[in-house]
Amino acid sequence: MTDDQQKLFDEPDEPPFVTVCKVGELDEGQGKAFPVGRRMVAVFLRENQYIAVDDFCPHQGASLAEGYLADGCVACPWHHWQFSLDDGTWVDNPKIAIDTFSVRVMDGKVQVQVPT
Ligand code: FES
Repeated sequence: MTDDQQKLFDEPDEPPFVTVCKVGELDEGQGKAFPVGRRMVAVFLRENQYIAVDDFCPHQGASLAEGYLADGCVACPWHHWQFSLDDGTWVDNPKIAIDTFSVRVMDGKVQVQVPT
């Protein structure tokens, strides 16, 4: 077995990218929640880049897509906990974090990669 074959054998399959919306569907600074598998994913457009995070706030379950963006974070609409859009950490306690997901644009479609 070659090293490349072994590498393929060792690496688990990556989850597929799933289309959630078309480019242009979100306005700058806007978020929207989309179902992906069994999860809800909050997708935001910030400075012409799409960002995807878990939509479920770990405090009491608000939809983070309904929150607002400020200082590189999304703020929960209910009690204003702020989560970094870079790594999902809660600003007040980095031991708590929401998931962040890879995003790509293909053929005018916004796609997210969400582990199952
Ligand atoms: S539900 Fe998000 S901060 Fe309370």
